[in-house]
Amino acid sequence: MSLLQVIFERRSIRRYRSELIPDEALGNILEAGRLAPSADNAQPWHFVVVIERKIKERLSTGRWNRFIKNSAATIVGCGYKDNEWSTIDVTIALENMVIAAETQGIGSCWIGDFEEEKVKELLNIPENLKVIALVSFGYPAVRPKPPKKKNLETIVHYNKF
Ligand SMILES: Cc1cc2nc3c(=O)[nH]c(=O)nc-3n(C[C@H](O)[C@H](O)[C@H](O)COP(=O)(O)O)c2cc1C
Repeated sequence: MSLLQVIFERRSIRRYRSELIPDEALGNILEAGRLAPSADNAQPWHFVVVIERKIKERLSTGRWNRFIKNSAATIVGCGYKDNEWSTIDVTIALENMVIAAETQGIGSCWIGDFEEEKVKELLNIPENLKVIALVSFGYPAVRPKPPKKKNLETIVHYNKF
């Protein structure tokens, strides 16, 4: 599959097979995050890779994140509070990871449903970092239908809005 096809056909995956992600594939995912662009090349990020079942279960307590416990790994993206671009930079790095995973046949889902203070305490994340988002990863157990997306004509404006 070409990279364009990978991007065009990606779906959020919330049901996973039980296989673990091999070290090489997980390494590629993390490398894709490490090499992401960041403002001033500040790389204002840390990533916590949660693989332990018990910790995943304790992250899975929200209404919209119950699938975390069945993921092979869930990555928690953190940014420095004192860097004004860290939210954008961490987001770009996490999306790079999503695409790197998809390229390797590994599904993922972004997770905004988390309680920051609980996640920070559970994972020992230092005070000077904020949690930007979580992304769960695993081999897809389903192939979801494409959700409705807006047409380009309704969202793209050339030269002026
Ligand atoms: C910032 C962000 C937060 C999200 N949070 C959640 C979430 O908490 N739980 C969930 O099931 N999906 C979550 N999603 C996934 C979206 O629901 C999904 O991307 C959207 O429905 C479009 O589907 P697609 O990813 O298959 O194109 C989130 C996506 C983004 C970008």
